[in-house]
Amino acid sequence: MTKFKTLDDLGDLTGKVVLVRVDLNLPMDGVRVTDDTRVRAAAPTILELSGKGAKVLLLAHFGRPKGEKVSTMSVSMTLDAVQAVLGREVMFVPEITGDVVTQSLTILRSGDIALLENTRFWKGEEANDLELAKAIAANADLYVNDAFSAAHRAHASTEGLAHLLPAYAGRSMEAELKALEAALGNPQRPVAAVVGGAKVSSKLDVLTHLVTQVDHLIIGGGMANTFLAARGVNVGKSLCEHELAATCEQILAAADQAGCTVHLPYDVTVAKEFAANPASLRTCNVHEVAADEMILDIGPQATEALADVLKTCRTLVWNGPLGAFETAPFDAATVALARSAAALTKEGVLISVAGGGDTVAALNAAGVADDFTYISTAGGAFLEWMEGKELPGVVALTVPT
Ligand code: 3PG
Repeated sequence: MTKFKTLDDLGDLTGKVVLVRVDLNLPMDGVRVTDDTRVRAAAPTILELSGKGAKVLLLAHFGRPKGEKVSTMSVSMTLDAVQAVLGREVMFVPEITGDVVTQSLTILRSGDIALLENTRFWKGEEANDLELAKAIAANADLYVNDAFSAAHRAHASTEGLAHLLPAYAGRSMEAELKALEAALGNPQRPVAAVVGGAKVSSKLDVLTHLVTQVDHLIIGGGMANTFLAARGVNVGKSLCEHELAATCEQILAAADQAGCTVHLPYDVTVAKEFAANPASLRTCNVHEVAADEMILDIGPQATEALADVLKTCRTLVWNGPLGAFETAPFDAATVALARSAAALTKEGVLISVAGGGDTVAALNAAGVADDFTYISTAGGAFLEWMEGKELPGVVALTVPT
């Protein structure tokens, strides 16, 4: 396991200014934050540093303003949610560098917390500009990165700062890295991966990497249709990337060579129209899909067989739903398999790690999110990790050995 400095390496911080990179890229309904999971993930780090006496400066991006000051993307939109989760008053500072920050620091007392403006309002952020990073660092003594979900970006606030100040992993970053190491770095075998979602094209690198890492690869969602079609199955009107047939064959061949068993459904839930509980709903063998039908979920028999596969495994990594889970009853396979995984985890026989936006929503809908060993707060970063890529924000925290 890679070595990092953590908050355990820090003593009393009275009189010190700590920059904490958090992920406040939160879903909003226009005015209010609709999911504060990421704030709750960062809260222990923020409160611990405050408890150690530091003046805590929170750094975060919000949306993709591309170097422009866009008022609807001010990180102050998240201030109420941050204060509510922390149960503390947080000062908003509309800058990330210079005198405004310096003056704010004279007002802040030891243990106080401030939220700096959206880092992406400055062009140098995404360019990982050294001068911008230096200007941010000038107001602080230490840097803590607690934003695993932004660690796939080599930006000034996620990567550059780690080279300019003593750098530490926050508690949430630490927990993410530990869970991910247990899932794919040095896992207990056999390992199963569930990869679902609409398109093979968006997860090509994930699939290519995973077949060399896991013992069982369970493919669901629209992606399964593309693999079935590549295998000569007529998938009717299903969502399918027919042009990727050769790519699917290559992935299957690589899996064969690596000793990874790829599981494609042999029964499916189909309908003639995509709507909740449609009249045309039926379950059939994959070879019986009619030309005017579309596959919208994995069938009950295949789902049961997959639950049996999980029973033989010690580790599970899950990304993406197995069917069109937002519309009933096409959530059935995702819910059933998630419940099987949760039950095995509760029994203590399976380590289950899941991540990615849709995945977390699906596991929440199945009511099992709390029973998984670990649920990542990351979307893109989780995918890049599943692709086997090194994440710049993580690499920058690594202590040289
Ligand atoms: C996320 O929401 O996944 C992270 O905050 C990264 O955001 P980005 O994709 O805009 O870099």
